[in-house]
Amino acid sequence: MTTVMTTADPEQLKTEALAAIDAADTLDALEAVRVETLGKSGSISAVMKTLGKMDPDERKVMGPKLNALKTEITEAITQKKTALEDAALEAELAAKALDLSLPGPDVRTGTVHPTSQVFAELTEIFANMGFAVAEGPDIEDDFHNFTALNFPPDHPARDHHDTFFFSADDQGERKLLRTHTSPVQIRTMLSEKPPLRIIAPGRTYRCDSDQTHTPMFHQLEGLVIDKGVHMGHLKGCLMDFVKAFFEVDDVEVRFRPHHFPFTEPSAEMDIGYSRDGQVLKIGTGDSWLEILGCGMVHPNVLKACNLDPNDWQGFAFGLGVDRLAMLKYGIPDLRAFFDNDQRWLKHYGFSPLHQPSTATGLS
Ligand code: PHE
Repeated sequence: MTTVMTTADPEQLKTEALAAIDAADTLDALEAVRVETLGKSGSISAVMKTLGKMDPDERKVMGPKLNALKTEITEAITQKKTALEDAALEAELAAKALDLSLPGPDVRTGTVHPTSQVFAELTEIFANMGFAVAEGPDIEDDFHNFTALNFPPDHPARDHHDTFFFSADDQGERKLLRTHTSPVQIRTMLSEKPPLRIIAPGRTYRCDSDQTHTPMFHQLEGLVIDKGVHMGHLKGCLMDFVKAFFEVDDVEVRFRPHHFPFTEPSAEMDIGYSRDGQVLKIGTGDSWLEILGCGMVHPNVLKACNLDPNDWQGFAFGLGVDRLAMLKYGIPDLRAFFDNDQRWLKHYGFSPLHQPSTATGLS
C-alpha cells in the first residue's frame, strides 16, 4: 500500500509519514498509514521502543524529538481524516440533490372527540354571553351533591342504583361520584360573591347503561345569580344559546313543567325538529326533542349558600353534552363515544386544525 518505512532517523520518518498521509485518498488508506506508523508494530512505535536502550545523553536528545514526531503525525492523521470525511459528505450531498417538490411523508393526525368539540363550542357560545368557566371535583360529598341542593333525605337519586358511592371513611362519611354538575353551583355560591354568571363543564356518573345512557357522561351546568332575575332571562338566554349552537335563526322551543329539588319552578326545554329521511332538521317541525333541564334557583339552595332569597335570585340549567353532540352531528349510539375505537374517532372526530370560532362544526 503505502511506503514502507525503512529508517530510524526521526526527520526521515517524519517526511515519509507525512508523504504517506498526504497520498492517502480514502479513509481506509489513511487507516493503513496510521497502523504502519503509530500502530503497535508501526515504524514510529518501533523507534520509540529503542529509547530504552539508548544511553542517557542520547535519550535526552532523542526523547523529546520522538515525542514531538508522534504528536505531529497523530495530528496530521486526524486532520486528514476530517478532510476526507468532509469530502465524502460533500460528495454524497452533491449526488443526492434534494427534490423539494416531492410530497412529504404521511403524517398521522389525531382527531378531536365530538364531546371535546361540543365542549369547545359551548364554552365559546357562553363566553360570548359573559359566562366564566367554573370547575368542581368528580368525587363529591353528600352535602354538595344532594343536601345543599335541597334533595330530601329519602330522595331516590341517593339510592345505590343511581349513585356510585364509595365505602364509608373513618368518620362514617361516604363520598360519591357526582351524579350531576349542579354541586359546582353550590361550590361557586359558597366561594364567590354574587352577581355570578358561570358555566361548569365536566364528567358526571350514574349507574346506567343503554343506547342513550353510559355510566360516565358529560354535563354542562349554567348558573346566573343577580338581583331581579326572572324566568324571562332564563328563556332568552337559553334560546340564544340554542340558535348559536344549532346554527339556526328560527328555532321553536317549548318549556315543559318538570321537577328538580334545586329549582322552582323547574322545566325541561324541548326544541322542535323534523325528520327528513335519516336526517334530523333542528328548528321547526311537529316533533320535540328534550335537550336540557332548567329552572329558577330554589330559595332553600340560596339559603344553604348563605344568600338571602329576598336579595338574590337566579336561574340554572344543566345539559347533557354527549347528547347534544349526538343530535348536532347525527351520531346514533352514545356507548361508542367511550369505546376509543380509532375508526369511530376518524369518522366522527374533528380536525384539530379547525377548532370552533363560535359554532362552525356544521359548515
Ligand atoms: N342537575 C340536573 C340533572 O342532572 C339538571 C339541572 C341543572 C336542572 C340545573 C335544573 C337546573 O338532571
